[in-house]
This record gives sequence, structure tokens and C-alpha cells, in this order.
Amino acid sequence: MFENYKSPAPDVILELMQQFRADPRPEKIDLGIGVYKTGDGKTPVMQAVKDAERQYIEQEQTKAYLGLAGDADFVDRIRTLVLDDAVSPDCVRGIQTVGGGAAVRLLADMLAANDKCGRIWIPSPTWINHVPISKAAGLEVVTYTYFDPATGQIDFDGMLDDLGKAEANDIVLLHGCCHNPTGADLTLEQWRATAALIAERGLLPFVDIAYQGFGDGLEEDAAGVRLLAGTVPEMVISTSCSKNFGVYRDRVGTAMIIGDPGAGIDKAREVLLSAGRVNYSFPPNHGAATISLLLSDPTLTSAWKSELDEMRQRILGNREALAQTLRSATNSDRFDFVRGHKGMFSLLGLSAEQITQLRNEAAVFMPPDGRMNIAAINEADLDVIGKGIAAVIR
Ligand code: LMR
Repeated sequence: MFENYKSPAPDVILELMQQFRADPRPEKIDLGIGVYKTGDGKTPVMQAVKDAERQYIEQEQTKAYLGLAGDADFVDRIRTLVLDDAVSPDCVRGIQTVGGGAAVRLLADMLAANDKCGRIWIPSPTWINHVPISKAAGLEVVTYTYFDPATGQIDFDGMLDDLGKAEANDIVLLHGCCHNPTGADLTLEQWRATAALIAERGLLPFVDIAYQGFGDGLEEDAAGVRLLAGTVPEMVISTSCSKNFGVYRDRVGTAMIIGDPGAGIDKAREVLLSAGRVNYSFPPNHGAATISLLLSDPTLTSAWKSELDEMRQRILGNREALAQTLRSATNSDRFDFVRGHKGMFSLLGLSAEQITQLRNEAAVFMPPDGRMNIAAINEADLDVIGKGIAAVIR
């Protein structure tokens, strides 16, 4: 009966990964999937994480099941990292998940299981998996204007206009920082206006924060989500440790629910846990236990923060170098906006045809939407990238 299947809709990021691996050209440049790379194209394990892992393995006593919610200490430490004291810990319920992707899925499942829940408003564009996950969970998806490709900036008026049409109990998905794929983040003023609109219309914010520490810094990158958490009565948050702890394949994330302790957040957490149980049962332990140990040790925490800051500085340096390269290669200021973007990505505003041409002619690999992984740029490749882009926009 297996012949009966139709191929699932392709995931362009995963397709690109395969195309890159299969391409025989030795000079090929991978600016696709969202993985941080050093100047020599590697994604090493962070030293503080390696040290925490060693300690954890030494002290690990058992590999027996921990429980559906995973490591409670880990979840609490991530709550502090993301929310600090924006809301009282009494008002937050969280669980460990299989990376940020599963956090999004379990929260979507939890929301879809609520009869009161309306549609989910998702920014256009957004992470490639937000819409498929929301639909798979059974939510009705509506998109809202977010980005103006002509300017490389947020279309904030368009965003407020669209969200002004949302109805009470609709969900609004927001990227906590380092918007994927555009790189264009809300200013604090814009977060404030968004929070006011959400509160006024009785919407439920769903913040996906997967790149904390890659934009302006750990605290600065959480300012928007903290402001929102302090303004609205209820919200949900998905977090990922893939990027800021570099534990991609260990699959470490959390899902959090914020609300009044008397207003059903424990029930909501039960639904979240049961969504995990029917999907994968228990989350994996190693990555979360390692991060919990790291964050409980002030020396390791400070070492991790310095490494993260170095990564952030490298991205900023890459942004500056890319902006300069593109300015001289194209003889225009068209791409200057990459300087002001945050985090790993920028959406360059190139068409799918131009991206294909770039891949064919210059062996530069990017997803068809024109999202560039700035964190993967190697200085030695700048010239090829600049000339390649100049050639395709000519
Ligand atoms: C990305 O957007 O490239 C990453 O978040 C990896 C993924 O799962 O798509």
C-alpha cells in the first residue's frame, strides 16, 4: 500500500541542504540553513557547553525516565533567561520540549484543543515551518503584513492595520527577536504599540524566541517579550537553545504558558503534556540537563555569555562587511539595510529566479525567498558573494 502516497510538500530549507551536499563544486558557499559558523566554516561545540557536558556525564546517575515535563530546573532557568522578573514565577507554567519546533507544535496543539481559540495570525514572511505546524495542529491560519521587501524594513502600519482586524481570542504569532527570515525586528516602541493593540482586542500573543543573544544581547533581545508579558493577561512562549547554546542536534527547547494562577494555566499545562505524550512521550535529557548545569554554575555561565557575545560580534562584523561589499559591488546603497538587521538572517529582496542564478553561476546557496544566513559568511567568500549578487540584479 505504500505506493499510495503523494510526496509531502517540500521544505525548501531541507531541500537546499541536500542540494548543497550533492553539489560537486568545491568552491560552493552555504548561506542556507540557520546554523552559526565560525570564519572557517565550522559549527563547533561551545567550550562552556563542552565543559558542562563533561561535568554532567561525571555526575549522571541514571538514564531512567524523568517525566513528561522534562527537567524542571532547566525550564525554570530558561524562564529566568527569557522573562527575568517581567512576570511572577507563579504565573508561568513551562515544560521542556524537543527543540523550539516541538514547542511551537505542542503549543499549537494545546491552543487548537480550546473551543474558545480563534485563528492564528502569522507574520508574512515567517519561519518556513510556522504555517505547516499551525495547520497540522488544526489552527486556521491568517497572515499579517510584516515586511516591505522594497525597503528591507518592517511595514509597521500594514502590520497594525492587519492586526486591527483580528478578533478576541485570535492568536498573534510574534518573533521574540532576530526575525526569521527577514532580520527586521520591532523596536521597543513598536512592541509597546503591538502590546497595546493585543490587550485592547483581547488577542493571545504567541512569542517564538529562538535567537536570544544573537541580536543586541541576551537582555536586549528579550526586552520585547518581557514588555508584552508585563502588559497582557495571558500569553504563550516557545524557546529554543539550538542557536544560543549551539546544541542544535540535541533538541532543547521549552514551551511556556503565562496567566493568572487561578485562571486555568495548570489545566493548559496538562493539555501541553498530553500533546507531548501522544507525539513523542518524553523529551531527551542530555542537552537540557547540560544547560541546566551550565546555568547553575556562575563560572560556566559567564564563559558561555562571553562566547555568545563573540558570536554576536562576528555576526555584526559580517553585516558590516557584507554591506560594504554589496555597496561597492553594486555601486548602490540598495543593500545598506543589512547593517540594521538583527540576528542570523537578512531577507535580501532577491527573486527566486535570481537566487537560482546565484546558485548556478556563483555556487552561492540560499533559500528561494532570498534569506541569507549572515552568520555563515566567511570573509574569504565576500568577493564572490558580492560579485554574484551584483551579476544577478544587473
Ligand atoms: C532555519 O530556519 O534555518 C532553522 O530554524 C532550521 C530549521 O529548522 O528550519
